Amino acid sequence: MKRFPFAIMAAVLVFSLSACGGGNTAQPPANKPSTETPSTPSTETPSTTAPSGSYDTATAEALFKNTCAGCHGQTLEGAVGPNLQKIGGQLNKDQILEVLNKGKGAMPPGLVKGADAETLAAWLADKK
Ligand code: HEC
Repeated sequence: MKRFPFAIMAAVLVFSLSACGGGNTAQPPANKPSTETPSTPSTETPSTTAPSGSYDTATAEALFKNTCAGCHGQTLEGAVGPNLQKIGGQLNKDQILEVLNKGKGAMPPGLVKGADAETLAAWLADKK
């Protein structure tokens, strides 16, 4: 019995020595190797049957967030400007385009132009 604890200590000693002797093999994790871009699902063409003509939803949402959300809210819930979540039920694409081009009340005209305005108007016209 008396040798037993000693044996354990010896074993522990050997073990810890060999652990030290083994060197510090645990390397710090290398820096993240990937700068891969997980975003941009790219090749999606929503083409087929967009009711108000084809447009890219992601583009529309980005435009909205950049240009309109400050007044109409991140989720179109309204703020300074009215709620637009069901705007498509009230205004069609052309009417929305007119608002964008000419402004309305406190909303300044020409915030977005050309294809951007078309995209936003078509996207909003589908909000019903
Ligand atoms: C400076 C704040 C502001 C910004 C920015 C803004 N709006 Fe507006 N918007 C308003 C206000 C205020 C009204 C309400 C005007 C009124 O009826 O008198 C309005 C009205 C509208 C309407 C008509 C709603 C209705 O019920 O008649 C649409 C559509 C609209 N905005 C879309 C947009 C879009 C799309 C953008 C981004 C390109 C945008 N707005 C940016 C303030 C803003």
